[in-house]
Amino acid sequence: MAHGGDTLSHASGHTTNHAPTDGTEEYDTMGNTGQGMLAGRTIMVTGASSGIGAAAARLFAAEGAAVVVTARREGRIKELADEIADGGGRALAVPGDVTVPADVQRVVDAAVRTYGRLDGGFNNAGWATAGTPLHETDDAVFDQVMDVNVRGVWNCMKAQIAVMLTDGRGGAVVNTASTAGLVATGATASYIAAKHAVMGLTKAGADEYGGHGIRVNALVVGSTRTELMDQVLTDTPSLEESFVSRSMQKRMAEPVEVAQAAAWLLSDRASFVTGGSVPVDGGWTAA
Ligand SMILES: NC(=O)c1ccc[n+]([C@@H]2O[C@H](COP(=O)([O-])OP(=O)(O)OC[C@H]3O[C@@H](n4cnc5c(N)ncnc54)[C@H](OP(=O)(O)O)[C@@H]3O)[C@@H](O)[C@H]2O)c1
Repeated sequence: MAHGGDTLSHASGHTTNHAPTDGTEEYDTMGNTGQGMLAGRTIMVTGASSGIGAAAARLFAAEGAAVVVTARREGRIKELADEIADGGGRALAVPGDVTVPADVQRVVDAAVRTYGRLDGGFNNAGWATAGTPLHETDDAVFDQVMDVNVRGVWNCMKAQIAVMLTDGRGGAVVNTASTAGLVATGATASYIAAKHAVMGLTKAGADEYGGHGIRVNALVVGSTRTELMDQVLTDTPSLEESFVSRSMQKRMAEPVEVAQAAAWLLSDRASFVTGGSVPVDGGWTAA
């Protein structure tokens, strides 16, 4: 079902009875029976057209949330919303570019218009390149990395927190950072700088709005099998060994494992967790 011409795709469905064991299977009726850890919540997910964001949207919906999914690839997020609806969940697809404030505002407005509230934001869209030393990196690449990873989170936090303050219910924001937000991982300098900035925005947001019932946390994501990772490994195959060998668990994450941590942080089960840099990295940053 479409709302607002081609820009929005709203999907709502009912029933199947498969347990949401890993976020990739069909959903049961938790979203409709109010039993999931995110029941009754409306959560915006950026970067939902693939990887961690898509896994998160599936999982959040299975945990009872209405999800508002966004990314630039409209076809992908519409398919995702339809898939969630077919599994009994609630999903709204709103295409947009996180670097454009008006696009982000449109997503937030659509969430409130459709579901009456916004309780959470999973600010997960990101972009990276690999293999180019700092002094050889084009300024345009630096700009794009900072725009997507930092300005994108900035745009989302501004729009999401404004709504949360207005309706007075509080809320939770989870920003996708990276091990590169804490240390020089071997990723490009611009990506490392960008993810460090995401940590700064997270801490500042947690501090400014903690008294208003709004929690803000960052995920310190380790190597995860997604399209972004596939691209990085295609560009620089030698990185795979270093990614896996330093991880205490000697493997990469599946996207749903990152999504599980985000779901927890967005839920009331993390009610006294804010300003955190939560590792989902197989022990990489502890090594
Ligand atoms: N995979 C890893 O190993 C790893 C490790 C640490 C951190 N991370 C972080 O995890 C997050 C998710 O990445 P992923 O691994 O799931 O990679 P992915 O599969 O490539 O997903 C990236 C997502 O970001 C979206 N995106 C990129 N630029 C955008 C823009 N300008 N506006 C709106 N959306 C945009 C993409 O959608 P469209 O192209 O459709 O717009 C896509 O949905 C990123 O923040 C990344 O930095 C990943």
